[in-house]
Amino acid sequence: MASKRAMVTGATGGIGREFALHLAKEGWAVTLVARGAGALEQLRGGLSGAGHQILAADLGTDAGLTAVADRLSAEHHTVLVNNAGFGLYGWFTGIPVSKQRDMIRLNCESLTTLAYSFLSAAQPGDTLLNTASTLGFTPFPSSAVYAATKAYVISFSEALWYEQRPRGVNVIALCPGATRTPFHTQAGASDAAPYPPMMFQDPEDVVRTGLRAINGRRSGAQISGLLNAALVQSSRLLPRTWMVRIMGVFAPKTAP
Ligand SMILES: NC(=O)c1ccc[n+]([C@@H]2O[C@H](COP(=O)([O-])OP(=O)(O)OC[C@H]3O[C@@H](n4cnc5c(N)ncnc54)[C@H](OP(=O)(O)O)[C@@H]3O)[C@@H](O)[C@H]2O)c1
Repeated sequence: MASKRAMVTGATGGIGREFALHLAKEGWAVTLVARGAGALEQLRGGLSGAGHQILAADLGTDAGLTAVADRLSAEHHTVLVNNAGFGLYGWFTGIPVSKQRDMIRLNCESLTTLAYSFLSAAQPGDTLLNTASTLGFTPFPSSAVYAATKAYVISFSEALWYEQRPRGVNVIALCPGATRTPFHTQAGASDAAPYPPMMFQDPEDVVRTGLRAINGRRSGAQISGLLNAALVQSSRLLPRTWMVRIMGVFAPKTAP
């Protein structure tokens, strides 16, 4: 059995898939988690190395979440890439609240449950990486709930980093900016996301930042890309209401 085992949730999507491919290339045995069994099987077939497992589970359901949490308790994983998540574009009152609750459940509740299972069994040297977003630093009209879920992920991860430091367990909040994945069309964007094309990164760029953080034991919020880092830093210099107004310029112009 491989000594380095990583679990990647949302493994068949743009960012998760790239994590799985790179971790496998670096010699990790990877446990791949998503809902689609066919896509998981196909991904496993394309990974280098051996010992990869698939776990088809809907993390938005009690049964699916329990199955994945149980796997983390039963089998030691040295890295958890807690990455499954989705967004919804639109004015808050224009999106059914049930869908927004599903998003909170996956992006926050399920991520928290898996972090708990992972950290309860973690050993010195292990790493928890939670995928957040640069939108976690600024409220975003037209993605009000999504941005709030990612603010939760950043705050949660930073507090866990401090708690876990004495145990030698590292905690990272990976913060991608706009990334070229199916995320945006699934979130309801008509053609592309409401960002200028120059702001988009490829999933490889995001994963490079994530792997640098895992291998280099970098902690806390890790922002992917110099442009994104500069934007986050400059946003901290402005009054918060100004920042919300600026973000509002990018919001799709659908009336509430
Ligand atoms: N793309 C961006 O611009 C961007 C920017 C910042 C942060 N992020 C964050 O990065 C993470 C990955 O996003 P991505 O861009 O790679 O998205 P993506 O391409 O849409 O992939 C999402 C992945 O999550 C899985 N998934 C969705 N719902 C699930 C559920 N209920 N249970 C289990 N798995 C589920 C999907 O597979 P199945 O559908 O088969 O389940 C898929 O593997 C998310 O947390 C997202 O918020 C993305």
